[in-house]
Amino acid sequence: MNTVKTVRDLRAAVAQARAEGKQIGFVPTMGNLHAGHAALVTKAAQRADFVVASIFVNPLQFGPSEDLDKYPRTLADDQEKLLGAGCHLLFAPSVEEMYPDGMGDQTRVSVPRVSEGLCGASRPGHFEGVATVVTKLLNMVQPDLAVFGQKDFQQLAVIRALVRDLNMPVQIIGAPTVRAEDGLALSSRNGYLTPEQRVVAPNLYRGLQQIAAALREGDRDFAKLVAAAQQQQLAVGFRPDYLEIREANSLRAATAEDRQLVILVAAFIGNTRLIDNLALDLDATP
Ligand code: PAF
Repeated sequence: MNTVKTVRDLRAAVAQARAEGKQIGFVPTMGNLHAGHAALVTKAAQRADFVVASIFVNPLQFGPSEDLDKYPRTLADDQEKLLGAGCHLLFAPSVEEMYPDGMGDQTRVSVPRVSEGLCGASRPGHFEGVATVVTKLLNMVQPDLAVFGQKDFQQLAVIRALVRDLNMPVQIIGAPTVRAEDGLALSSRNGYLTPEQRVVAPNLYRGLQQIAAALREGDRDFAKLVAAAQQQQLAVGFRPDYLEIREANSLRAATAEDRQLVILVAAFIGNTRLIDNLALDLDATP
């Protein structure tokens, strides 16, 4: 696996793979890779002949009081994991390479509607930063397909919308969330948790499972289900951010008639903000 740091070298390597008749798959990341990222690379490798991954901690998607500076940078370790997962080329640009004229005058991509509410409300500007960097990366790599984790459910919806709205010729593939044995969704931010917080953290997913079970049994009192789950979060030591039940395809607020639902949650333990979600199809046979 080669590592390149410039757009020029990236384009040359991808052009060579294309000239060899290869289909290009792409997995953008911010590094500090875990088994969830490896699963994205594996999925890309199943569907494409040449897999490109990127590692770029994108300042544009972090708010002023967020963890940009302390976000873990673990390049050597990440390179090994990417190689093991079947990646062929790593693009690891600097901030200057991505934003040569600075970020102030950077053209921004803003995706209405699906960016609003949920993480869009808690992290103003976040999805504009994500949409902008993903658009740039997709234009740099020009892959046939790109794989994103369903753990970032709203992010995936934002990326699907921007690719559709901007007529970008790339297939977007969602990959299931990878979880620890106790149910906690794998995330680079889990590394911030103290051992005590790590024990509490899986309760976030358990709360989603309880709501999903109630929905499957026919309960449609969304407000009551959400309030009960947030009470439980508080009781075990979370500070709730949001917990919402939405229609899974459009991300609009769910109605009692909807059959494809997603329950989305964000909550803090100490200073660490965790997100998770659970999508369910009420028409699917169990
Ligand atoms: O999900 C992430 O790791 C990031 O938001 C992404 C898609 C790589 C954009 O910086």
